[in-house]
Order: sequence, then structure tokens, then C-alpha cells
Amino acid sequence: NAMLAWQVTSYHFQPERNWMNDIAGPLYYKGWYHLFYQYNPDSAVWGNITWGHTVSKDLIHWLYLDLAMVRDQWYDINGVWTGSATLLPTGEIIMLYTGSTNESVQVQNLAIPADPSDPLLKDWVKYSGNPVLTPPQEILPKDFRDPTTAWLGSDGLWRLIIGSKINKTGISLVYKTSDFVNYKLVEGVLHAVPGTGMWECVDFYPVSLTENVGLDTSVNGPGVKHVLKASLDDNKHDYYAIGVYDEATETWLPDDPVNDVGIGLRYDYGKFYASKTFYDQVKQRRILWGWIGETDSEQADIQKGWASLQTIPRVVTYDTKSGTNLVQWPIEEVESLRTSNVSLDNIKVDPGSVVHVDINGAQLDVNAVFEVSKEAIKNTEADVLYNCSTSGGAAGRGVLGPFGLLVLAEESLSEQTAVYFYIAKGVDGNLQTFFCHDETRSSKATDLVERVYGSTVPVLSGEKLSVRILVDHSIVESFAQGGRTCITSRVYPTRAIYGPRLFLFNNASTSVTVTSLNIWQMTSALIHPFEQSS
Ligand code: FRU
Repeated sequence: NAMLAWQVTSYHFQPERNWMNDIAGPLYYKGWYHLFYQYNPDSAVWGNITWGHTVSKDLIHWLYLDLAMVRDQWYDINGVWTGSATLLPTGEIIMLYTGSTNESVQVQNLAIPADPSDPLLKDWVKYSGNPVLTPPQEILPKDFRDPTTAWLGSDGLWRLIIGSKINKTGISLVYKTSDFVNYKLVEGVLHAVPGTGMWECVDFYPVSLTENVGLDTSVNGPGVKHVLKASLDDNKHDYYAIGVYDEATETWLPDDPVNDVGIGLRYDYGKFYASKTFYDQVKQRRILWGWIGETDSEQADIQKGWASLQTIPRVVTYDTKSGTNLVQWPIEEVESLRTSNVSLDNIKVDPGSVVHVDINGAQLDVNAVFEVSKEAIKNTEADVLYNCSTSGGAAGRGVLGPFGLLVLAEESLSEQTAVYFYIAKGVDGNLQTFFCHDETRSSKATDLVERVYGSTVPVLSGEKLSVRILVDHSIVESFAQGGRTCITSRVYPTRAIYGPRLFLFNNASTSVTVTSLNIWQMTSALIHPFEQSS
């Protein structure tokens, strides 16, 4: 089946076959980046969860290894679930993960490399005294999972957090340890947000307010803030907030309570969940990965024999310009896949028109800059209270939007995925820019969940509107304004697969100019078993 074969991505990480969900325990060790992931070795649906394992020299070209950990103990017989790695100053690796026990109780387990001199870290030893943590008294047995990377406090003790909930309040529990075998539960919680439900895959890390570098997880002090992220089980979205961590009280408070964890900012407004960061000590950057699930039917996944992939690794930093959000940007290594290029300037796109761009392909790196003239903005009364999901998508006609690009488009536009901006007025009367994806015309298939996704994107005075889009067969990953707002779509074209095209479009009542358009075709990353390369 040509359509199913076409959906396989070419430079995003996905297993050779079967089901994958969360990334687990990413780390860099002795020359290799390691990616472990929630994996069902037996089928394309969730279940029998083990740890898949792959390694790379550059986070782009991956080599598959054998399973790192399987369900073979009473404390993880129902699943070797998500966890995190901590690199000790001695160079040792501590791996903590959630096990679902023979009674489906969620416990935390410790594992270490069997042979620390093996750069591939192929074999893992589970600690004989596992589990090292069981649910505390007030926590239900199935609400206790996904330990974070630990950080070192000024008292010489390590801390880590674990996500949970009490009634409908999402919480993160803090534990202290000196040896990763014995732990003390800190009284109170790091943070709690009522109404947000179970917090899965919590992440907690420092960001620099002054320098454009990532920070190792234990770094703290002046010029540093902390990001807290939770994956909400109730709505399957990843929410973060930037705030201040107080080591003395083991609490964290958001800078802006309106944008608290679970109610404010999201890493990605599309199909993106259960993300995790790690600190890359080689390039001094913090790298974020998210799990991109499927939006077709389970039946279709079984038919194609695989489900899910991981985002392009993204460098995540504090946005020193806006001061309100993080920015995410594809790692520079992805640019090594760029081949032929089309580069155009000053393309005027008239109201109600589409412009074909002469570059085809399902593997693209697109960079576009848009300009709406100051006069047009001044002389027109922008629409009020726009909302990506409910305001008519890319087909709607407005005053200062929508305008943007159509990717994975069929020649006659019978299939198209729209990536676009919309300038509108907010409640306060000020102009606000929205960034959205419209998937509703992405495919003629009928077994799909297709949505219009998006949110506002901060645009600072003097900035043009810019977007970068990574197209890779059945995935469209977009980064607006340098990565202030990101959206990922899973799409399943049926007609556009035969020479997918790219268009600019403008459905605003004023013309827009694409001041620069740079598009590269991307070569494949040739992900394959380790043996084939050695
Ligand atoms: C998130 C999650 C985690 C859990 C794992 C199980 O997607 O539910 O909370 O550890 O997946 O596969």
C-alpha cells in the first residue's frame, strides 16, 4: 500500500515497527547520545511496555539497539514505564523508572549500567532492593509515576520530583536522597495546581536569564529561573511555566499565576505529549523531545504496523527578548540534511490568492518571513477575539489574516495542511498575533482526527512574522517567531503523496509580502540497526 509506506518519516526518530510512546532517560555518554523509549515489542498499540533503545552521534542519525529493559520482575511485570537519568559528578549513571507491579501499583525502581565501560550501555542491572519508592500514604497506588532527573542541593543531597494528584489537584512530590536507594519525602509539595488532574512526566530544570546556553540540572543562583512542566493526563497536553525555585522551602512559584502549570503556556499546541528534557554537556544546551502520537485510527496503525514518533530534538532556552516564555528551536544538526535550495525574496501575495512555489517534496525545511505593511495595520480595523480552533481555520476570510503556507498540498489543493498567522485585536484593544495549523483539509481519509490548532505568539516591536516548518511525510512541525509558539501536526494525505506541493496563501483583505522564503529539500537520515553500520 503506497499510502501507508509513504507515511514513514525520514528524519524523525521512529522505531522499525510497533508502538512507541514517551521518551525515557535521554543522556549523552562516552561519545553517544542515548534515547530510550516506551515501546511495545509485540504490536502497534500500547501495552507490554519495555524500554526500546537507540543511539546516535548527532541526534539525527539513529542506530537501533536491542531492548534496554524488559518486564521481568514482580515490580515491573506490568510495564517498565517512564523514567529519567541522572549523571553523577563521578561519571556514574543512575536510572530511575516507574514500574507497574504485579498488582498494578506504581513504584519507582533503580537501574544502573551493567558495564560502565560500554559506551553503548547495552545492558542494565536492576537494583536487588527494588522498588526504592512506593506510593506515600495519601497517594493512590496508580497516581505515582515518572521520576525526574535529580538535582544536587547545597546541602549535598539530591532531589527529584514525581508527578501525582490529590483529588483533582495536580501535584509534584519532592524526594531527597544521598544514594538513590534511601529517600525521604519532603513535607508539602514542590507545586500544586487545582483542577489540573494527574501530572504525568513532570520535568523541572533551570534556565539562564542572561546567556543563550542550557544549564545542567543542578545549576541554581542569581540569573537563573526554573521551568516546571507537567503532562496533563486529562487533556494530553504539555504545559510549562517559568518561575522561582526556593531550595530552603523546596517550593516553586510561577512568575505569573495566570500562566501557571496546566492552565497557561504549552510547549506545543498540536499533537505533542509526555516530553522530557536533558542537558547535553557536550554542546552546553538543554534538549527537549516530545512524543507525537497518531491521529488516525488504531485499526490503521495496526495495518501500517507502527505508531508514533519523536519530535526533532529542540534546543530550549529562556526567551530573553520577550521575558515571558521559552523558545524552542530544532537542533543545528538537522541542517546537515539540507540539500537543494530555493531562495526567493519579496513575493507579494494578493488578498484571496495562492502562489505556487516551485519546490516539491515530502521532506522539507521551510523558512518564511511575512510582512504586513504598517499602513495596512494602521488603516484597518482588525477582527476582534480571534481563536485558532473556532474562527474558521485557513479557509476563513478576515481583515489581517489568515495568511501563510500550504504544505503537503495536492496540485488542485484538494488536500493541504495550512500553517498561518492571523493578526487580531485582543480584549484590551491591542493587536495580537495568532499562529495556527489547519489540518481539516489535510487528507481525504475519513478515519482521522483533524483539527485547527494554535495560540498567540509574542511579536515584539520591529519584528516581522517568521516561521520555520519541518515537513517529513506524515508530520508537520512548526516554529513561529524563533520558536516562541510551536505546533506539530500528524497528517495522512492520500492524494498529495504523489509529488506534494507547496503554496503561499493569503485570505486577508490586505496584501502581504513574503520578504524572504528559503526552502531546502531534506535527505533521509537512514535510521537502521546498529549492526549494519559497524
Ligand atoms: C505518559 C505515560 C506515563 C507512563 C507511561 C506508560 O504517556 O502514561 O505517565 O509512565 O506513559 O507507558
